Amino acid sequence: MSSSKGKKAIVLGGSSGIGLEVARVLSEAGAEVIVGSRRGKLVETIPGITVDSVDVLDRDGLANFFQRHGRIDYLVNSATGGPRAVGPFMSMDLDGFQASFAKLWGYANSVRIGGGHVKDDGAIVLVSGYPARKHKPGYIAISTVGNAVEGFVRGIAPEIAPVRINAVSPGLIDTPMFVHQGEDREKFLAEGTAHHLIPRAGTSREVASGVMFALENNFVTGTTIDVDGGALLS
Ligand SMILES: NC(=O)c1ccc[n+]([C@@H]2O[C@H](COP(=O)([O-])OP(=O)(O)OC[C@H]3O[C@@H](n4cnc5c(N)ncnc54)[C@H](OP(=O)(O)O)[C@@H]3O)[C@@H](O)[C@H]2O)c1
Repeated sequence: MSSSKGKKAIVLGGSSGIGLEVARVLSEAGAEVIVGSRRGKLVETIPGITVDSVDVLDRDGLANFFQRHGRIDYLVNSATGGPRAVGPFMSMDLDGFQASFAKLWGYANSVRIGGGHVKDDGAIVLVSGYPARKHKPGYIAISTVGNAVEGFVRGIAPEIAPVRINAVSPGLIDTPMFVHQGEDREKFLAEGTAHHLIPRAGTSREVASGVMFALENNFVTGTTIDVDGGALLS
C-alpha cells in the first residue's frame, strides 16, 4: 500500500501536464488532492480531485488559497508561472529574460506562504528541468531559472527541516507546454531527444513517479532527482 494513502496534497500547476499527472497518481494512491491553477479546471476531468483557482504570482490570493485548504502533508509546485524567453542572451529582450523568472517567484511564493501549512513530517517538491545543468543554445533563460530553482531547494532545505523539500528535474516531456501539433510535434520531440541516452520524449507519468519518490521517501531532502532519459549525459 502506498504511504500516500490518506495524505492531503496540494498540487499547484496541476491542471495540465506533469502536475496533472502528479495529481492523478496521488489520487490513485488514496491521497486527498487539491489542484491549484489560474484557470481553475483540469484539461481533463478526473473524479475525486478538487480544483481551486489561484495564481502563484498573486501572494494575497495564494495566502487565501492555503487558508482555505488548511494543513497539508504534501505541496507540489510545477506551475510554469508565465512565458519563457528563448534565444541567445546577447540579443534577447531583457524584459523577457527577467519575466522567465516568474517560475522561481511562483515557487518561492508557494514555499514562503504555503510552507507553514505543511506538517512537520510532510514534503515539498518543486520542478526544475534538465537545461539547469545541460545548456542548449537558446536556453539561457530556462537554464538560469532552473539553476535558481535547484539552488533555492538546497538553500531552503535546512531552514524548513524537518519538512523535506526536493526538486525533480525532467528531461524533454511530451506535455501541453509545447504547442506544436501533428508531424511538427513528433519532429520537435524526436529532434530534441535524438542525442539523449533514451532517445524519446518522456511522459508525465514517468516524471510523476519521480515526484512520488521524493514525496514518499522520508530520507531524501535538499536534492534534485533527475528523470530525464539521460539528457545530462548526451
Ligand atoms: N514539459 C517539459 O519538457 C519540461 C521539461 C523540463 C521542465 N519542465 C517544467 O515542468 C513544469 C511543468 O511543465 P508542464 O510541461 O507540465 O507544463 P504545462 O502542461 O504547460 O502545465 C503548466 C501548469 O502550470 C500552471 N500555471 C502556469 N502559470 C501559473 C500561475 N501563474 N499560477 C498558477 N498556475 C500556473 C498551468 O495552469 P493555468 O494555465 O491554468 O494557470 C498548468 O497547470 C514547469 O515548471 C516546466 O518548466 C517541463
